Amino acid sequence: MAALTDPVDVGGVAVPNRLYRAPVLECAGTGEGAVDALIDELAPTAASGVGLVFQGASVVTAESGCAAPNMTRVHDPEFVAELERLTGTVHDHGGRIFVQLAQGGLRSLEAWHAGHRERNPEVEQLAVSRPPWQLRLLDRVGLVDLSPRVLSTDEVYDLAEQFGRAAGYAADAGYDGIHLSGANMGIVQQFCSPLYNRRDDEFGTGADEPPGSGGLRFLEAVHDAVREHAGDVPLVTKVPAETAAPSFVRRHLSFEDGVRLATRTAEAGYDAVVPVDVSTFWDMSVIRGKFPERAWSAAELQSGYAAAFGGPVRARAVRLLNRVQARGFDREPGWNADLCRAVRRRVDVPVLCEGGIRERATCERLLGDDASPAAADLVGMARPFYAEPRLGARLLAGEDALCASCNNCTVPQAAGEPGRCRTPSVVRERATLERAGAYERRGGSGDEGTVADEREGE
Ligand SMILES: Cc1cc2nc3c(=O)[nH]c(=O)nc-3n(C[C@H](O)[C@H](O)[C@H](O)COP(=O)(O)O)c2cc1C
Ligand code: SF4
Repeated sequence: MAALTDPVDVGGVAVPNRLYRAPVLECAGTGEGAVDALIDELAPTAASGVGLVFQGASVVTAESGCAAPNMTRVHDPEFVAELERLTGTVHDHGGRIFVQLAQGGLRSLEAWHAGHRERNPEVEQLAVSRPPWQLRLLDRVGLVDLSPRVLSTDEVYDLAEQFGRAAGYAADAGYDGIHLSGANMGIVQQFCSPLYNRRDDEFGTGADEPPGSGGLRFLEAVHDAVREHAGDVPLVTKVPAETAAPSFVRRHLSFEDGVRLATRTAEAGYDAVVPVDVSTFWDMSVIRGKFPERAWSAAELQSGYAAAFGGPVRARAVRLLNRVQARGFDREPGWNADLCRAVRRRVDVPVLCEGGIRERATCERLLGDDASPAAADLVGMARPFYAEPRLGARLLAGEDALCASCNNCTVPQAAGEPGRCRTPSVVRERATLERAGAYERRGGSGDEGTVADEREGE
């Protein structure tokens, strides 16, 4: 059994404790000021003692593939080299930093962001196969605008290669590891999902193969490309089960499919896995919690929503959909724990668990106690770092996060506003804690041990 403050080894990299900042879009862009924006966002978290910082999804292609406005792209070696200032800052604080590599595929701005679509009418979305009828229907009624370009076999290898090249640039810039955006309906999940992947080449899933097999081969191709360009830098990925798919989606990854996929991903050479229970669509399964009443009503945000969703009427339709969905996606603390526990029984690499974790006691329980076997080797939080960038200091000292999972930060962020806590009571409480010195880092951590050693002792 391990404590949150215990060190851990991830793919040969010593991480000083088991708390990580889950990947969250920083939307710092790639232009002038991007590196400073990333340092402003991530340095306080590292300074507060968080062992492992995952920089949010960063796109490996030069065009398309951004799921939200102003995402950082990492296809250009000159830009990535500048990120050495960020990795150096995190290292100065004693932390580790991995960058998450992504490509949105059908979940790209060009498909859903009306303003972006108008400005970039010619940009196509990379597609694993012809989009499923559910998305084609949304296209027909004008809620999304699909212009998919189905990748040929050679283009799939080339895409894997682009992940590998970006990993190589990142390793050269001092990143301690690579995180692959394997879920949240990005292109990797689209390869894994039976709803999206109907290919008949080696990246498809044969009739006699278990669901997700084609996706596994894409994960293997990315793994090989990362090894070629970045050597043995630790490689981590999110792995989806699609148990939160709506009932009208019959082709999806079940719980067992997700467990098998994660197990085989680890066997393929990934150094850690982050199993997540998601949907087949980009919905609230990723950010379970309350309906963001305040965010939707804020007068100053309405024009941004109208620009993003294609006018005030469509913005109201999205708001209604959000309200309906929030009823089905209540936050349970550690909602991925069962999936993580099932995966952890089968693999000997670290399993990372995130999703709705807010209390220190939950972290310890997930790491294993007398009452329940461990679900994870590291535990992570995402939204709580919007609420408290220096949260690590309080959590590692035994306190709980303030974040109320109200989601007031999420809708504005998706529409292009900076990601930050937008709930005044939480912001006030953070200010009070700040004045009381609660975010000063306290204590240190001990020696490194490997997860395989621990698993043997359990
Ligand atoms: C605004 C926002 C942006 C996110 N961006 C990413 C991302 O870039 N990559 C990713 O894998 N997950 C992303 N996530 C999902 C988080 O990593 C995390 O799994 C999810 O928020 C649940 O954790 P939490 O309850 O601690 O917030 C994002 C979540 C939010 C709220
Ligand atoms: S607005 Fe603040 S309290 Fe609400 S989910 Fe976002 S970070 Fe948490």
